[in-house]
Amino acid sequence: MIDNIIQSETASTLTSEELQLINLELSHVPQKSGAAIDALKIVQAKRGWVSDECLIAIAKLLEMSAEELEGIATFYNLIFRRPVGDKVILFCDSVSCWLCGCENQKHKLSEILKIDYGETTKDNQFTLLPVPCLGACDKAPVMMVGDDLFTNLNSSKLEQIIAYYRKEGEK
Ligand code: FES
Repeated sequence: MIDNIIQSETASTLTSEELQLINLELSHVPQKSGAAIDALKIVQAKRGWVSDECLIAIAKLLEMSAEELEGIATFYNLIFRRPVGDKVILFCDSVSCWLCGCENQKHKLSEILKIDYGETTKDNQFTLLPVPCLGACDKAPVMMVGDDLFTNLNSSKLEQIIAYYRKEGEK
């Protein structure tokens, strides 16, 4: 009964497809809060980011407080709580990349995109974010553009990568 009420309250915010996918995740976990990250990811996959409204709806569905879920979303740095561009660039700024000169490459990337960390390009194509180690330290400096990993970054490689995605974006 309570489940039905919660479902109907959240249904106005979350789509039926999102609800269906979250309910599927819930069927795999002993406690509803165990599906928190997956639920956030489901909504983000559909909308690009997780708004306050969606976060509250997910929290209700998982029987958590919005604050608890916000804590998880903030801790897990791949959940975006603000709108992002079509491609999110995750630029590694951890120790191996730093030792291999990622600072210089980050400056170059900022120069190409005309944005700094946490910002989105005017055409809404790219958002640039710093991330901890991407697990490819032997090929530092490293970044991801969407799901694609790029290693051994240098200035000309950065130019080529961004030019490629700009061209893709025009299609
Ligand atoms: Fe950059 Fe590990 S420190 S990939």
